[in-house]
Amino acid sequence: MDRYKALLRNNRAWVQGKLRMDDQYFKRQVAGQHPPFLWIGCADSRVGPEEITGAKAGDLFVHRNIANIVTHSDLNLMSVLEYGVLTLRVDHIVVCGHTACGGVQAALGHRKLGIIDKWIRTIKDIYHDHREELEGIEDENERWNRLVEVNVREQVMNLAKTSFVQRRWHDGDFPVLHGWVYHVEDGRLEDVTRHAKDDPLDPIYRYEFDDE
Ligand code: CO
Repeated sequence: MDRYKALLRNNRAWVQGKLRMDDQYFKRQVAGQHPPFLWIGCADSRVGPEEITGAKAGDLFVHRNIANIVTHSDLNLMSVLEYGVLTLRVDHIVVCGHTACGGVQAALGHRKLGIIDKWIRTIKDIYHDHREELEGIEDENERWNRLVEVNVREQVMNLAKTSFVQRRWHDGDFPVLHGWVYHVEDGRLEDVTRHAKDDPLDPIYRYEFDDE
């Protein structure tokens, strides 16, 4: 019942440890953030981005939601994206999915779970668009994990279609968009796709920018 107290205790020990290593640590932290990476990951409790990448405080600007979905009508994600890309000016954006993703599994099924049904509907749309390939995979786990990967690829393309990312591309070469899959079964991060400024994008999604 008091398991939450361990978190507070751990925090106090962590502060002491940090100060022992470097008594200016928190003074420097308060000066501001200049993260080189924006991380868009799943809310799953097993895939904490700093833990699996060894990143330090200040390295990752983070947005997480169920099944790492990038939707242009999501005010939360779009605020993080605009701020990360145009104000913090991150150089890289990582969309990181993971094997055994419950959100992707739910999208493969037919049970009504609540409002989450609306959220993961876009993954059913991705399934619909890749039905032939996915249904060619007999093993259910394999099909599930293939949809995890296809989802990551689609979400990277959704980033490329945004005016914020294209605004930065108008001015230079960054950000580079990356799609990764974290393998829960062995801890491995797999680099599955990369999309840079001049990579193919259907012209219907291209915005024009006046030089301001
Ligand atoms: Co997940």
